[in-house]
Amino acid sequence: MPVRTVVCEDNAALISTALQAVVALIDGEQKRKTTVGELQSRVSLALSGGSTPKALYAAMKAHHLPLASSAVQYYFGDVRMVPDSSPDSNFLMAFEQLLHAVPIEHVTKIETVDINAADSAAAFEDALLTQLPLNESGCPQFDIVLLGVGPDGHTASLFPGTPASNETERFAVPCMPNEGITPYVERVTITRRIIQAARHVIVMAAGKDKQWVLDGILASDEDVASTENFRVPVARLLRECTGDVQLLVNRDMVKDGAASL
Ligand code: 6PG
Repeated sequence: MPVRTVVCEDNAALISTALQAVVALIDGEQKRKTTVGELQSRVSLALSGGSTPKALYAAMKAHHLPLASSAVQYYFGDVRMVPDSSPDSNFLMAFEQLLHAVPIEHVTKIETVDINAADSAAAFEDALLTQLPLNESGCPQFDIVLLGVGPDGHTASLFPGTPASNETERFAVPCMPNEGITPYVERVTITRRIIQAARHVIVMAAGKDKQWVLDGILASDEDVASTENFRVPVARLLRECTGDVQLLVNRDMVKDGAASL
């Protein structure tokens, strides 16, 4: 599916646009599930770490989204293998901004304590296989996946050139970031395969330092084939999604003069 890019004037507009998109998708998925009589009645929503997603979660809480739609089951796209009390914990960030207002049975965690990353990833895959509907290739299918983008072109914890970013079979894997990425800790991340199978993907990218990633996402297939920069995980991954992809960027990500994308 083609990536639909929305240029927002600033970060506040990006978060507001993302909130509207999430609310609309949850509402649409609830209606779809009722119409088709899907067994998994809750809308599955995979959360991302990062400061841009963090601002969205605060907006969702302020919007009373979790209380208004207890039909949502929350998942994580990636976690750092740190305790829930660690300031580096994606669970802690989401809990403080949003999930503290959600019944705990509506949250499917990726365990990070008293378990190694390999076993945690395997346990999470088992949960995905039992909790989510499977697509025709047997891949668990999220309804909505939220993603951020790093300045190096990573998304979730799929970092350029790492085995995780090239994984094509598994749904969740243990991984390490590249040198220089903080926090430099082991992680568990969902993979390209399960992101590409999702019904809806919302990607939030803000900051001039990510403009080259935007170029890669919007590049033609020919350019991607010939330009090393354009092979970063998020650029290649998003062009092969089967669901709809909304890429929300702020104005300073757009090259001067490119009034619209
Ligand atoms: C993580 C996140 C990561 C994040 C991006 C964007 O655990 O590090 O899942 O993928 O979304 O790094 O983060 P910012 O929005 O803070 O730039």
